[in-house]
Amino acid sequence: MKVNGKHYRSLWWNSDTAVLEIIDQRWLPHDFRTQPVTTMEEFAAAIVEMRVRGAPLIGATAAYAMALAMKIDPSNDHFEKAWAYFNATRPTAVNLRWALNRCKDALLPLPENQRADAALTLAHEIADEDVGINAQIGQHGLALIREIAAKKKDGAPVNILTHCNAGWLATVDWGTATSPMYHAHDAGIPIHVWVDETRPRNQGAITSWELGRHGVPHTYIVDNAGGHLMQHGMVDMVIVGTDRTTSRGDVCNKIGTYLKALAAHANNVPFYVALPSPTIDWTIADGVADIPIEERDARETTHVQGKLPDGSIEMVQVTPDDTPGGNPAFDVTPNHLVTGLITERGVAKASTEGLQALFPDLAKAAQTQKPGG
Ligand code: MRU
Repeated sequence: MKVNGKHYRSLWWNSDTAVLEIIDQRWLPHDFRTQPVTTMEEFAAAIVEMRVRGAPLIGATAAYAMALAMKIDPSNDHFEKAWAYFNATRPTAVNLRWALNRCKDALLPLPENQRADAALTLAHEIADEDVGINAQIGQHGLALIREIAAKKKDGAPVNILTHCNAGWLATVDWGTATSPMYHAHDAGIPIHVWVDETRPRNQGAITSWELGRHGVPHTYIVDNAGGHLMQHGMVDMVIVGTDRTTSRGDVCNKIGTYLKALAAHANNVPFYVALPSPTIDWTIADGVADIPIEERDARETTHVQGKLPDGSIEMVQVTPDDTPGGNPAFDVTPNHLVTGLITERGVAKASTEGLQALFPDLAKAAQTQKPGG
């Protein structure tokens, strides 16, 4: 997508320096900073500190991290150490494990002297595939938006509510939840997006920044506003992303998604999840019981970052000095609250049958996988 007229992906390979470049998202939406990632430690920090974030982007970054690991030392022993090191960076987004395992399957059968080049080629492939998957999700989501638009009177916009940032910055390009929005906007369908703030890290501000750069009408709302808007007929559909969706269609996403799903259900608002296939965890069915939920630093809840009038970006404290904070970063929406899963192969019912019908090949391949393996 474009930033100030220039096309960007959220990460890119600098062939002059042979180094990966990323957008350091900690400074968005106020400052657009990019940085090269040159060491294993920097790769791990980029994921842990959420300089790169969003399930698909975490996966693609991990593939480039393994490419660096193989350049440093292509031995089996180093591969396994690097796999474990990067796999421990963030626990919830399954794309991380997916990308690391894809590297394992592709690289370990090769002679050591071929691994570094093959790893880099694979990382490029994973990044490019992500862009293609998200473009397809956009087309399938566009059809859903078009259907709703057709029922609107006098060209009124389709009101879409989204949570967190499942935008191009959370993927390599297009985004998952935002891809249908960009496609609809580009097709001339009037849309308006309600953007949840998404405390504690306020990823909604990043979504607003993205939508604003692309000219998509939107309104930033506090997390607690969604139920009220739905109750008053001001939301036509919800589209969110996901960090891990189980084989039966339970959806794990940013904390607060579950509450939006409950409100949508109570108000008959369709609740869609944009789901790229690498985000499906075929090894588990019950999301509430089996998805590890990341518990992040409490400081993210007791403090908030923003821009001061002089333009500087500062962190301020919102609670009393001694208030303990709690920070579960994700929650699970059970499949019965999900209207449909918008995948690259079409819209699936959030059920074992629904996912297996669209992805028989992946479901079968996963039969040999162990939970967490
Ligand atoms: O903690 P984050 O910002 O990495 O969480 C991101 C989300 O929850 C997104 O909705 C999800 O990763 C899907 S991104 C296409």
